[in-house]
Amino acid sequence: MDPQHASALPGPSGASLLRDASRSRGTAFSAEAREALGLQGLLPPAVETIEQQVARVMDNLRRQATDLDRYVYLAALHERSDVLFYRTVQQHLGETLPLIYTPTVGLACQMYGRIFQSPRGLYITAQDRGRIRQLLRHWPLHRQVRVIVVTDGSRILGLGDLGANGMGIPIGKLDLYTACGGIPPQACLPVLIDVGTDNAALREDPFYLGLRQPRITGDAYQALLDEFVTATQEVCPDALLQFEDFSNRHAFDLLQRYRQQLCCFNDDIQGTGAMGLAGVYAALRLTGGRLTDQRLLFVGAGEAALGIASMVTAAMQAQGLSEDQARSRCWLVDSKGLVIAARADLSDEKRVFAQAHAPLTDLHAVVAALRPSVLVGASGVPQLFTQAVLSELAHGQPRPLVLALSNPTSRSECTAQQAYDWTNGEAIFASGSPFPPVARDGRTLTPGQANNAYVFPGVGLGILVSGAARVSDAMFFAAAQALAARVTECELASGRIFPCQSRLREVAVAVAESVAEVAFAQGLARHDRPADLAAAIRATMYAPDYPPLTGG
Ligand code: NAI
Repeated sequence: MDPQHASALPGPSGASLLRDASRSRGTAFSAEAREALGLQGLLPPAVETIEQQVARVMDNLRRQATDLDRYVYLAALHERSDVLFYRTVQQHLGETLPLIYTPTVGLACQMYGRIFQSPRGLYITAQDRGRIRQLLRHWPLHRQVRVIVVTDGSRILGLGDLGANGMGIPIGKLDLYTACGGIPPQACLPVLIDVGTDNAALREDPFYLGLRQPRITGDAYQALLDEFVTATQEVCPDALLQFEDFSNRHAFDLLQRYRQQLCCFNDDIQGTGAMGLAGVYAALRLTGGRLTDQRLLFVGAGEAALGIASMVTAAMQAQGLSEDQARSRCWLVDSKGLVIAARADLSDEKRVFAQAHAPLTDLHAVVAALRPSVLVGASGVPQLFTQAVLSELAHGQPRPLVLALSNPTSRSECTAQQAYDWTNGEAIFASGSPFPPVARDGRTLTPGQANNAYVFPGVGLGILVSGAARVSDAMFFAAAQALAARVTECELASGRIFPCQSRLREVAVAVAESVAEVAFAQGLARHDRPADLAAAIRATMYAPDYPPLTGG
């Protein structure tokens, strides 16, 4: 007998059941279930499979006029049915990922107050001091939360301070945690900490949904964050906390403050670090070069660039270089020019990578002087990689690696077409937001997507499976190795240094396995190591199927 028909089915019935996103099956309710649940007449006669429902969703999705419309359509689907949403996303990852995540999520955040339909996630504001525990307890099933992604909206992608509109980012990240990392939707909690916004235009936007005040800073900000972090430990004690899209004014300090106290990480620094190192490793598989011979130039010296530079330095040390030797192979440029020891305006994090050199502010001159083999854009400033810069790069290197990481597409340091055209097709190229393949000299060059979506879902899964009490740098190092190893020869041959997006779930399992192994090896795991770790990981992963309608 159909399991749907198996019991007396207490709980919501009839029309209310159809509106329950976690229980409704819509047209997939069997004839027997419709009788038992009092749904007769409330549904069209056809009884459909979930596959038919997914096909209809995709048909509708493709008929929407713009990607923002598609984002709104998928958000509304999520409101109607968790299972159908994740089933669709999982089955059509390559097509839906750019809609629920980078790049469309950037536009969605900019338009958040306008496209808003119904609330998702938890909002904690500067006015909630003293009652954050209570707010967390308002979250349904808060004891089941396993991953919290939190932002204060201060550096949303490369778009700057978007205040409360930044909620789109934790939501998008957690959608990937579920779709790729198999974390059940009810275990995911998106949080927006609203401390105001310094974006004056937003404060005057009639549709803005956040606090209309300048950001609070200093002790008041720190006290709010401290209370939030302490509250999460009490109310959601088994949750991993991921800091996301905090401006670098706070990001490094928050990470240092909490990383030894609880299970947390900063995705923009550590996740991006692992992703960037994986890109370099995979590119070396194409060129046959050695990591320790590379010279990297980072354009942008913020969270992403410093995260990758730290990870690359650690990897070079693991291959025999001293710390000084490894750091001397990483050069940074920020908005004021080359990061050199003589500069007095450097933060502690940047100073670590400051080297002796004459001051240079022009990027072309920097490339000509340093002759990097790897050029990484992490500035949030579009079109910094001009024809002159990329031609100069190719002039000095037979197969330079170009990573234009800035998101969304409008912020990319160059397009794929430009990267290939201006290096005579020699560049190995990947970008934070996707670009279509480029036809050149009778070849098709396919850019990879250099995005930390390849890292954080697997890292989170590995941490949860092992019950890791803390998140260590070694876990990200292992994640980078696992990710680079997952790129197939066929993908490499087409120009990709990251796997196809349709393989994100498989990548997440591999990353999770390597992260969990580190947790066991470092004594950070609170769970016993299963005999077959990969099988245990797969077994814990959420699958978007309609649950049996038994037991209420
Ligand atoms: P951040 O604000 O910490 O750092 C930005 C850096 O760019 C600063 O050092 C700033 O001085 C520098 N900069 C600004 N204008 C510049 C110019 N004209 N020339 C050279 N440097 C300049 O930001 P964060 O977190 O490092 O992110 C930067 C970008 O990287 C953003 O667009 C973000 O979306 C992207 N990103 C992409 C990721 C991916 O997975 N592809 C992951 C993390 C960040």
